[in-house]
Amino acid sequence: MTKTYYITTPIYYPSAKPHMGHAYSSIIADFFARFKRIDGYEVYFLTGTDEHGLKIQRAAEKEGLDTLKFCDVISKTFLDLSTKLNLTNTDFIRTTEKRHLNSVQNLWNELKKNDDIYLSKYSGWYSVSDEAFYNEDEIEELDGKKISISSKSLVEWVDEESYFFRLSKWQQPLLDLYQKNPNFISPESRRNEVVSFVKSGLKDLSVSRRSFSWGIKVPNDNDHVIYVWLDALTNYISALNYPDKNNDLFKKFWPASVHIIGKDILRFHAVYWPAFLLAAKIDIPKKVYGHGWILSGDEKMSKSKGNILDPLEIIEKYGLDPLRYYLIKEVSFGNDGNISSERLEDCINSDLANNFGNLCQRVTAFAIKNCDGKIPKNIEFINDDLKILNKYKDNIDKLRSEIDKQNINFYIDYIVSSLFEANKYFNDQEPWNKKKDLVRLNTIVYTTFEIVRKICFLMYPIIPSTSLNALKIFNINEKDIDLSSITKNDFLKKGDYINKIDILFKKIEKNND
Ligand code: MSP
Repeated sequence: MTKTYYITTPIYYPSAKPHMGHAYSSIIADFFARFKRIDGYEVYFLTGTDEHGLKIQRAAEKEGLDTLKFCDVISKTFLDLSTKLNLTNTDFIRTTEKRHLNSVQNLWNELKKNDDIYLSKYSGWYSVSDEAFYNEDEIEELDGKKISISSKSLVEWVDEESYFFRLSKWQQPLLDLYQKNPNFISPESRRNEVVSFVKSGLKDLSVSRRSFSWGIKVPNDNDHVIYVWLDALTNYISALNYPDKNNDLFKKFWPASVHIIGKDILRFHAVYWPAFLLAAKIDIPKKVYGHGWILSGDEKMSKSKGNILDPLEIIEKYGLDPLRYYLIKEVSFGNDGNISSERLEDCINSDLANNFGNLCQRVTAFAIKNCDGKIPKNIEFINDDLKILNKYKDNIDKLRSEIDKQNINFYIDYIVSSLFEANKYFNDQEPWNKKKDLVRLNTIVYTTFEIVRKICFLMYPIIPSTSLNALKIFNINEKDIDLSSITKNDFLKKGDYINKIDILFKKIEKNND
């Protein structure tokens, strides 16, 4: 049986073009998808756009455009971004697609059938920007305006007939779920937040609106559209052809291995989503991981604050792989992180150009000159070589288990220290002083090549294009990257020709004013 892995990003609101926060969720998910793929898993990686609700309807009205046409244009910018970010997503779902409409209406019918939905009236606060209902104690007043305490977005009063989901009924089953599956909500700090929210008491949730029409109609009651979060969350199973639970995709990939989301949308994923699924008798995803925010000048990016960082501009200026590396390394995963071009330039200069790029160039240039441009043949490992080579074998299971905990910080620290160690090994062994002992010279070169190969395999999920460029030294292609082979110390074929490669990363001239 093949091992399977299903990872998702949030589906993004196409109310404005993508920013760095969106790019971040997607790059992180792509990192895990690539890691699992090279580790032998069959991976389904889903992303897409969340196109219904008042937020989108108003954004389109503001532009004077038909709502679907407006969504078509902006959803395309998210689709294009996935190409620009070199994402390996299997699917891109739009909630305006027919497959999704069927899926949501079926889920609704299931909830209705099980008596989890009833008609009543909603009177309370609603934030269009968050598409969320708030209780009185979650609201504050600022400059005479009512806003949500947590997100600071404006709320408006809603008074209308609405269908409700019996969320209160699922309070205890949810608490049982969190206890039975302590990793369901990660990281742990966020889990505690959710548990205390649920313990404080769940009220039934309004799941339809009748004062606007941009959404999926409630079956048998066309005056109502389904609440956009019930609609959006269902995307994760629509892509697997729900309601057909017997089709191959659903059977293979559901329940999802992990939903990668930002911390601001944890309540929807860790409370509402499992409650809907429990009510519909569908399995619960294995994990919801709420990452931190990318801050711009110490604040969360938002259109209203005017502090949006455009990923395309950064890619244009520095290239994609430096951005991917930087976001994965410098934003401690799970926490918020401020990003600055200064730190990005430091990363490029020290980690990527000096430690990684230089190592690849140096050993290749040396072998072209001293080993006939080939992978050396006559070698005899000594302790110094085996010590550094075997470290990868000794750590591979630890790396795998840390990745299963989404501990990207461990993974990247491992790579950074491996790079230091590899450079130190090459310097300390001084192959240039071993011209009289060719076996030793060859062994040092072979060992360094093996280390470069292993590091390139580990780097592939982070900086895929550059790793593949570096692997051209050995004529290794993408399909040959197999994580389990980093345990081998004799992967490279002795006597094969190597190739000279172009500079992997150009150093950035720093302005020291
Ligand atoms: N449409 C909903 C998600 C539905 S999932 C079933 C939504 N969309 S969003 O476009 O507003 O945000 C999508 C994701 O981007 C969220 O995970 C959010 O946390 C993330 N980010 C938005 N701004 C961010 C930062 N500044 N930093 C990091 N991620 C942030 O919510």
